[in-house]
Amino acid sequence: MNTPFPFYILLLFVSLVWSGYLEYDQDVLIPEEWIHAGRVGASEELELTFALKQQNLHLLEETLNRVSDPDSPQYGKHLSLEEVASLVRPSELTQKVVHSWLQSHGISQCLTVRTQDFLQCTVAADVAEKLLPGSRFHRYVRDGQSIVRSSAPYSVHDDVHQHLDFVGGLHRLPPKGKDARRKQPESTAWVHLGVTPSVLRARYNLTAADVGSAQKNNSQAVAQFLEQYFHPADLAEFMYIYGSSFKHLSQVDRVVGTQGGGKAGLEASLDVEYIMSTGANISTWVFTNPGRHESQEPFLQWMVLLSNMSALPWVHTISYGDDEDSLSAAYMMRINTEFMKAGVRGISLLFASGDSGAGCRHLNPTQNVFRPSFPASSPYVTTVGGTSFKNPFKVTYEVTDYISGGGFSNVFKMPDYQVGSVQGYLKAAAATLPPVSYFNASGRAYPDMAALSDNYWVVNNRIPIPWVSGTSASTPVFGGILSLINDQRLLKGQPPLGFFNPRLYKLKQQGLFDVTEGCHLGCLDEQVQGKGFCAAPSWDPVTGWGTPNYPALLAALITD
Ligand SMILES: *[C@@H]1O[C@H](CO)[C@@H](O)[C@H](O)[C@H]1NC(C)=O
Ligand SMILES: *[C@@H]1O[C@H](CO)[C@@H](O)[C@H](O)[C@H]1NC(C)=O
Ligand SMILES: *[C@@H]1O[C@H](CO)[C@@H](O)[C@H](O)[C@H]1NC(C)=O
Ligand SMILES: *[C@@H]1O[C@H](CO)[C@@H](O)[C@H](O)[C@H]1NC(C)=O
Ligand SMILES: *[C@@H]1O[C@H](CO)[C@@H](O)[C@H](O)[C@H]1NC(C)=O
Repeated sequence: MNTPFPFYILLLFVSLVWSGYLEYDQDVLIPEEWIHAGRVGASEELELTFALKQQNLHLLEETLNRVSDPDSPQYGKHLSLEEVASLVRPSELTQKVVHSWLQSHGISQCLTVRTQDFLQCTVAADVAEKLLPGSRFHRYVRDGQSIVRSSAPYSVHDDVHQHLDFVGGLHRLPPKGKDARRKQPESTAWVHLGVTPSVLRARYNLTAADVGSAQKNNSQAVAQFLEQYFHPADLAEFMYIYGSSFKHLSQVDRVVGTQGGGKAGLEASLDVEYIMSTGANISTWVFTNPGRHESQEPFLQWMVLLSNMSALPWVHTISYGDDEDSLSAAYMMRINTEFMKAGVRGISLLFASGDSGAGCRHLNPTQNVFRPSFPASSPYVTTVGGTSFKNPFKVTYEVTDYISGGGFSNVFKMPDYQVGSVQGYLKAAAATLPPVSYFNASGRAYPDMAALSDNYWVVNNRIPIPWVSGTSASTPVFGGILSLINDQRLLKGQPPLGFFNPRLYKLKQQGLFDVTEGCHLGCLDEQVQGKGFCAAPSWDPVTGWGTPNYPALLAALITD
C-alpha cells in the first residue's frame, strides 16, 4: 500500500532546498570566544564573495585524473589558467542572471577573477540583508581581532538559486588559532637535541648537494591564515644557526597578502623556516592573510586569489582545517572543485592532516564518532600526517606521533586511486579496527604521507624555541622535498608532479619509509579508550604511505 509520507517528506526537503538556502547545513553558531559587539550599521560596507556555478565539472575531473595518472598518455599535460577558465567559466546565462540580480539591488562594485566563477562585491550591510533574506550582520571580537558575520542563515531568490554554489563572508570563522603547539618537555627527554634542518636532512637522506638548482622557474609557497606573521629577521637568524651544512636561501622572494607588524607567530615562522630547509635554495613565497576585511573568509580569499594568478609556485603547503561537520556540503564541494582547478594546472596542494588524531564528535550523551577534518579529507589534495623518532635521543626510524590527524571522510567518497590500498588496510587490520559506528569506511581516507612532527626548533621573535610540534611542521618539510623533486624533473624537461596522489598510490611504498608502529588519538570513551586507528605495514589512516627517503623517492619519480 502506498503511504503519503515519503512524498510528504520529499516535498519538505524540496521546499527547504528551493526556498533558497544554499547552505542549509552550514553551522551558523558563533562560538563563545567571539564577543558580540553589536549590530553592524546599515551603511557599513561588507565584502561578499559569490561563487557562481561552473560548467564542465565532469570534464575537469576527468582531465585532472588523466594528467595526474602516470599510466595515462596525458600525464603531465597540464592546463594553463586560461585553459581552465575556458573549461569551467560559468555559462552566459549564469553570469547574466547573477549580474542583473546584483544590479537590481544597486550593487555595482564587484571584482571578478580570470575564471569568472567568483565575484567579490562591496555591499552596504542593509543592502546585503535585503539581497540575502535571513541574514543579520553583527560584529564580534576576539583577542583584538574583529569580524562581521551573520547570526542567522541566508537565503537567495529562487531565480538565482541554481546559478550559485554559495555566498562567502557570512558564516565561516577564521581558524581557531589552532597553532603549532609547544609541548611540555617530558622529564626524561630534556637532553634530546630536537629536530633541526640537519636532523631532517640526515633522516630523509638529503646530501649537501640535494638543494634546488633554480635553473628553471621553480618555486614553492606556504599559506597561512592565523593573523600572524613571519619575521624576515627570524628566518635569517634561523638559517644562520641551523643552515651551515647546506646551501640555502635566507629570504622569502615574495609575500602575497598583508604582512602585518607585531609579534611573529610560531606557526608562520615554522612553515617558512622548514620549507626552506628541505626545499633549500628554492625560491619561496608566503601567502599571508589575503583579504583582511572584517567580513572576509581568509581561506576562501586565498582560493579566489589562485584563480586570478597565472604564474604560481608549483608546491603549496597549507596549515588550515575545520571540522567537516561544521561546514556546508555546498562549500566543501565547491572548494574541492577549486582544488581540482589547481591540480589540473600542475600545482601540488599539501594540507596538514590535523593534530587531533581521529578526532571526536559527541553525537549524544552515549554516542561518539570520529571527526574528520576538511580540507584534509578532500580527495584532490595531498594530506600529510606526523611521526616521531622511535628513540628520541637519536636519528632512528619513525613511529606514529599520536596527534597525527587521520580517518575517513563523511562527505567525499573514496577516490579510485586509493581504493585498493585502503581496502587492503581495512582487511588486514580488521581485527583491531575501531567499531564501524565510529567511521565511514566508504569515505576518502587520509593522510597520504607523513613526516616528523615532533620537537622542532623554531626561531621566533629572534629566540630559538624548542619543543614545537604538529602536522603543521611535517607538511612544509614534505613540501620542500616535493619541490626538490620538481626541480630535478624540470631540469630534465619533465613536467612538475602536480596532483601527486594518483602517482603516490602507484609507488607502492617505493622511496618511502613505512611507519608501522603506534596509534593516534580518538574518543576518550569506554568503547575506544582514547584510541583512533593504528599504523600498519603499507598504507594506513595514521601515517599514510610513510615518510620520504629522498634519493629513492627521486629515483622513482624521475623516470618519466
Ligand atoms: C583579478 O586580477 C585583475 C587584474 O589582473 C584585477 O583587475 C581584479 O580586480 C582581480 N580580482 C580580484 C577578485 O581581486
Ligand atoms: C637512506 O637512509 C636509510 C636509513 O636512514 C639507510 O638505510 C639507507 O641506506 C639510506 N640511503 C638510501 C639510498 O636509501
Ligand atoms: C642555488 O641557486 C642558484 C640560483 O639561484 C644557483 O645558481 C646555484 O647553483 C644553486 N646552488 C646549488 C648548490 O645548486
Ligand atoms: C617565474 O619567473 C619570472 C621572471 O623571473 C617571475 O616574475 C615569476 O614570479 C616566476 N614565477 C614563479 C611562479 O616563480
Ligand atoms: C559515508 O560517506 C559517503 C560518501 O563517502 C556518504 O555518502 C555517506 O552519507 C556517509 N555516511 C555518513 C553516516 O556520514
